[in-house]
Amino acid sequence: MDLNVLREHCLHCSSCGLYETRHNVVFGVGPETTPILFVGEGPGEQEDLRGEPFVGPAGKLLDDMLCIIDLGRHNCYITNIVKCRPPHNRDPFETEQDMCMPWLRSQVRLLQPKLIVCLGRIAAQKLIDPEYRISRDHGKWYNRGKFRMTALYHPSALLRDPTKRPSTFEDLKSLQKMAREVCPEVFEINKPE
Ligand code: URA
Repeated sequence: MDLNVLREHCLHCSSCGLYETRHNVVFGVGPETTPILFVGEGPGEQEDLRGEPFVGPAGKLLDDMLCIIDLGRHNCYITNIVKCRPPHNRDPFETEQDMCMPWLRSQVRLLQPKLIVCLGRIAAQKLIDPEYRISRDHGKWYNRGKFRMTALYHPSALLRDPTKRPSTFEDLKSLQKMAREVCPEVFEINKPE
């Protein structure tokens, strides 16, 4: 099994009701060899239409955030807790998240990332701690077996509330420092020609 085969299976998923309203399954993008995995909440409108994560306004900001720390889509894997768009961008229901988790677990098993970065509260509560409070806990590091995990404010939250940006800049620097320590090879993954 590799990520392409997993994606093919995922594209036919009808485990929860979100399959009825989706245009595309948004499985995830990035090189299979990367040690860094970013996990958002779920696809928005643009992502649903294009089948790629973080391609709308929040995605543009995510690209800028990655660029600040010498990363980009070519050297990270980016996916979401739920792979299909919740109607009207509502939060994904707990049941929808649970039905979708086997896909993320399989992605993690195949990627074997060293760092998992949650984008926003939903991902942090699902992957780090159900009691996670993003305003209190963003930027903290957690050791979870083979992974180190952290969470940043979701780029959509940074678009809505720019006062959160300075602390996110600090969190990004901490992420860069951690990446240099535990997976310096990530910075060597080059853009494909
Ligand atoms: N917000 C998310 O959480 N994920 C996306 O892919 C796009 C916006």
